[in-house]
Amino acid sequence: MENVNQEFTPMPRIGDKAPEFKAVTTQGEINFPSDYQGSWVILFSHPADFTPVCTSEFMTFANMEKKFNEANCKLVGLSVDGLYSHIAWLRTIKEKIEYKGMKNIEVTFPLIEDITMNVAKKYGMMMPGESSTKAVRAVFFIDPKGIIRAIIYYPLSLGRNFDELYRALIAMQAADAFNIATPADWRPGDDAIVPTAGSCGTAKERMENQKDIKCHDWFFCTKPLSKEAVEKAIFKK
Ligand code: BEZ
Repeated sequence: MENVNQEFTPMPRIGDKAPEFKAVTTQGEINFPSDYQGSWVILFSHPADFTPVCTSEFMTFANMEKKFNEANCKLVGLSVDGLYSHIAWLRTIKEKIEYKGMKNIEVTFPLIEDITMNVAKKYGMMMPGESSTKAVRAVFFIDPKGIIRAIIYYPLSLGRNFDELYRALIAMQAADAFNIATPADWRPGDDAIVPTAGSCGTAKERMENQKDIKCHDWFFCTKPLSKEAVEKAIFKK
């Protein structure tokens, strides 16, 4: 039976168009995702300003922002706090916090104020079983055409691994550029998985006739993909 007390908001899924919204941020107003057309964008939520895990995450992400930008990816943060809280928190981070060798960290990417929770609800960032007043740690990877390509969720107490977010971004970009898939723990320079069309033995033989392709079985073939080729495609060197 339907529970009338439970608000139901459908969550966006991989392959969906990123839901549109206008928002006020620490860098002015944004129209999402249209302002980001042509770039990858990582839209991520954090539970609250002036909290320790979030502070460590913001310092880490801001410290890596140049790397993400060089891979044609922009960062946009969100929490259900107001603009003045965001400004005060980011100022405190810059002026006072020294952590793991990082200091004077200036967060220059936009941080959305979402006191109405409209955006957080649209993106399925509110998970009442975890918290009804704070967004969970959600990460949406959105491609240059505005399509959601990957979604990762973490609970309130667990800080994210930003090297993994970068690895996932580069792996998706490599998959697009070379029409490949990436195996477990793939990093640039590792072999890539080639799509296997057709059936069983014949597909394996066909694949093995192509230079450099190694088939572990008919459904699992890999080929070398150099780090240089990946970097050339992604960083447009
Ligand atoms: C934190 O960022 O430290 C945090 C935020 C909300 C709940 C628990 C931890």
